[in-house]
Amino acid sequence: MIDDIRRIQAEAANQIAGAASLDELATLERDLVGKGSELTGFKKQMGSLDHEARREVGAALNRAREVLAAAVAERREVLEGQAAAERATAERLDLTEVRAGRDAGHLHLVTQAIEELEDVFVGLGFTVSEGPEVEDDWHNFTALNFGTYHPARDMQDTFFVALGEPKEVVMRTHTSPVQVRTMEERQPPIYSVMPGRVYRNEATDATHLAVFHQIEGLVIDRGITFGHLAGTIDRFTKAYFGEGFSSRLRPSYFPFTEPSAEFDIQRPDGTWLELGGCGMVHPNVLRNGGIDPEEFSGFAFGFGIDRLVATRHGVTDLRELTGTDVRFLEQF
Ligand code: PHE
Repeated sequence: MIDDIRRIQAEAANQIAGAASLDELATLERDLVGKGSELTGFKKQMGSLDHEARREVGAALNRAREVLAAAVAERREVLEGQAAAERATAERLDLTEVRAGRDAGHLHLVTQAIEELEDVFVGLGFTVSEGPEVEDDWHNFTALNFGTYHPARDMQDTFFVALGEPKEVVMRTHTSPVQVRTMEERQPPIYSVMPGRVYRNEATDATHLAVFHQIEGLVIDRGITFGHLAGTIDRFTKAYFGEGFSSRLRPSYFPFTEPSAEFDIQRPDGTWLELGGCGMVHPNVLRNGGIDPEEFSGFAFGFGIDRLVATRHGVTDLRELTGTDVRFLEQF
């Protein structure tokens, strides 16, 4: 019996050492040392042996099990190492070379969306403007009609920058300060969109980012009405999403627009997606931007780009958009 055990042990050790894959190894482990294995079978025969023989057979079985367990562990380590090396080779990135004629990557999903949105608005006759991400209180809040103690300031969870007077310099919480900068720099007519990065002091999770993107729209001219606003939103909705989509406005509040609204878009299947805010530019804001509200009127709108992109592409965790995992990024 002991000879049999040794022979089985030697054969099993050979087979284990020759396992070509982790799957094969798992099968061998089950067949050679598992409950139904030949070795385990010996245990059941031990009852018929005398004391001394039982001790010897027991010791041989224990030894065989130890030797084979060690062989399995050793082989597993080798195979896992090979698998990891294969994976590393397959996913290897050459970050040093960009060769002509080779696919050298593409723009990030959010950048693609910004460019598409710009194209749609340029097609509607808008220009594209930009402003700084580090803003002063005037442009981010005060000129936009946020009173010093206005509760709406708290809606915006601001990151303050330790420069100047306390709370004087902020990471812009929205793209609306670019409205003010545009008005300060230019006289109407103004038809402009302003995409960019914005910052809010928020805990990051699957549906919230502390750094995200918005696009702002500003129209100022003679005789601009709420009808122009609703029409522009609807025209944009159809141009960007498709003719099967439509839009609606719901009453809302922003200090810099009056009246204010939220706008939603309706998908062809009838479901609604909340997109952003809009309204007629408040006369105080026009005055703060150096524009006479008796002569000109206008509307503004703004919406988040990251959630829009995530909805469009079925991305369930916004944090994927800020990551660097090429397996995610390559899909778009
Ligand atoms: N700035 C607003 C926000 O971030 C959106 C908005 C833009 C509302 C323009 C009205 C007009 O929520």
